[in-house]
Amino acid sequence: MSNPKKISRRDAIKYAGVSAVGAAAAYIGMKLWPEQETLSIAPLQENQLVPNPQNKTNMKVLLVNGSPHKKGCTHTALSEVAAALEKDGVATEILWLGIDAVAGCRGCGSCRSTGRCIVNDSVNVTAEKVSEFDGFVFGSPVHYAAASGFITPFLDRLFYSAGKLFAGKPGAAVVSCRRAGSTAALEQLNKYFTICNMPIAPSQYWNMVHGNNPDEVRKDLEGMQTMRTLGQNMAWLLKCIAAGKAAGVSLPAYEARVATNFIR
Ligand SMILES: Cc1cc2nc3c(=O)[nH]c(=O)nc-3n(C[C@H](O)[C@H](O)[C@H](O)COP(=O)(O)O)c2cc1C
Repeated sequence: MSNPKKISRRDAIKYAGVSAVGAAAAYIGMKLWPEQETLSIAPLQENQLVPNPQNKTNMKVLLVNGSPHKKGCTHTALSEVAAALEKDGVATEILWLGIDAVAGCRGCGSCRSTGRCIVNDSVNVTAEKVSEFDGFVFGSPVHYAAASGFITPFLDRLFYSAGKLFAGKPGAAVVSCRRAGSTAALEQLNKYFTICNMPIAPSQYWNMVHGNNPDEVRKDLEGMQTMRTLGQNMAWLLKCIAAGKAAGVSLPAYEARVATNFIR
């Protein structure tokens, strides 16, 4: 059996100093980065996105919380991304999808002619607001190694009916899990971006945090740093796109869409 490592009095003082600085920094950080306003968009009449008074640029990112927990782990991760965005001058709004069942896509195709989903709920309200946002972050807890049953039907219907509105706007997905299934869920969410001409904002690691409650998530220091880096990268990407537009670089003029099914 190995002996526990003895530390000298000098090292003990050094470590205590480092911990004290870390604790102070965490405290200051909590005070500097206010909690984000969160609003449920279900039911429909409650869906009024709250303007953020800290808007320093004319750019704004919508962060969608697809967890049944309004202030749970996913919210904790999204708040960290939002804080980093705000720090870099980009306004944010967090939208909580609520706990009422979100209808799935009926595949009726009526949105092809109307541009709206036939189920007139929070999906249509959000679609109407897409033009107000420059970037999007979709957050979900991992449920059975997949995105939640709230965000999946929401995004299916939002992108099927209004996917064109997202072209050229950066997106990022964020997932929270206790232990596993995060990469599968992340990949699932990233698919909405890559079918809609959306650039994806990266981070230093895959966008995931680990924990069963917000306290555990906050202890996932690497996960939380990954969230902050994601916010920084999203802000940087938004500024690059804005600078490009100002210099005359706009979205490509895409070809008329060709759709070939495998049977013909
Ligand atoms: C129905 C259900 C399924 C879950 N499946 C997984 C899973 O596959 N892998 C995992 O690591 N955690 C799983 N969890 C745990 C959650 O992903 C984890 O607690 C998450 O951080 C909760 O985020 P939230 O507070 O935003 O809801 C599951 C939780 C529930 C309720």
